[in-house]
Amino acid sequence: MEYKMGDRHARWRPDRLLVAFVVWGLLLALSGPLAADYEGDPEEGEIIAYTCTGCHGIPGYNNVYPTYRVPRIGGQNYGYIVASLKAYRDGSRRHPTMNAQAMTLSDEDIHDVAAYFVSLTEDEDS
Ligand code: HEC
Repeated sequence: MEYKMGDRHARWRPDRLLVAFVVWGLLLALSGPLAADYEGDPEEGEIIAYTCTGCHGIPGYNNVYPTYRVPRIGGQNYGYIVASLKAYRDGSRRHPTMNAQAMTLSDEDIHDVAAYFVSLTEDEDS
């Protein structure tokens, strides 16, 4: 009797681990909508934007490759930049260069870089 109780107590419970994983998964799922509201950090964005400015020549938005037009994104609306980059990343907006650029960006990168470009506008206005 005593032996059996002790045995039950010591037995490893894989279902506990499973519950832990399910709870963890739910927390991740719940944090999704919060992440979508993330405002972006312009200082992080400035680092990411380093590669972008070669084409979206900023400040002054002069294209360093004048053979084709590159839209001005300093001065664009935050939501528009985020939406454009996500569309390039998932392929719903097609442009070989920008598809390749957006492919390297995480959601957080996109928000950071958008915050950076928006912050440039504010500087120019002042
Ligand atoms: C090699 C050149 C090049 C680089 C580097 C580049 N872009 Fe672009 N980008 C373009 C071109 C060309 C377009 C216009 C594409 C089109 O017509 O859809 C564009 C379009 C965009 C647009 C949409 C603008 C609009 O008015 O609709 C956004 C936003 C953008 N780029 C952001 C970025 C960001 C952020 C980076 C850096 C991670 C970046 N780009 C790097 C060339 C570049």
